Amino acid sequence: MRICFATHNENKLREINQILSKYEVVGLTDIGCREEIPETGSTLSENSKIKADFVTSKYGIPCFADDTGLEVEALNGDPGVYSARYAGRDRDNLANINLLLKNLETHSNKTARFRTVITLNLEGNTHQFEGIVNGIIVSVLKGEKGFGYDPIFIPEGYDQTFAEMSAESKNAISHRGRAVAKLVEFLENRV
Ligand code: IMP
Repeated sequence: MRICFATHNENKLREINQILSKYEVVGLTDIGCREEIPETGSTLSENSKIKADFVTSKYGIPCFADDTGLEVEALNGDPGVYSARYAGRDRDNLANINLLLKNLETHSNKTARFRTVITLNLEGNTHQFEGIVNGIIVSVLKGEKGFGYDPIFIPEGYDQTFAEMSAESKNAISHRGRAVAKLVEFLENRV
């Protein structure tokens, strides 16, 4: 069965195709969708559902979509659903990190978590899968790998930031890795 992952990211596509055996996963580019799907929801759950619904209704193909946020406890869950554009401009990683560190400066509680929600649209039904990794925010950036807030996030039980870990080590414990594992289990166990 063909299924769409609402992403243009070739790495995400390759990764999931390696673990799914019963499905061929195609991306937005493969189905001819070049537009930026608006993320107008106020929660990760809403946004991932908006994206999956958009693709299924417009292109008539089963689809899953993910949305991720960094939730900082002392900042009441911010930047959360606004993680990509926390400092204003979309995906300006360094500006986002600097604003987060400034806002967290006066707080002693550095607890945070990454949370991913995947919405799957399949045969008229919606299914959601959540993945969480707990950790802390550090004020000095460390590591060159990864993206986003990786240089300032240390997962619980480790002493390296996500940006210091190999992609394999990060995927094995990450929010996205955990949500994807639940999705894969669901899809592979369907009869
Ligand atoms: P998206 O939903 O995957 O597009 O993620 C939204 C934003 O959250 C990204 O632009 C990043 O700022 C942040 N983010 C998501 N996943 C990660 C991650 O694995 N590490 C660091 N930042 C992330």
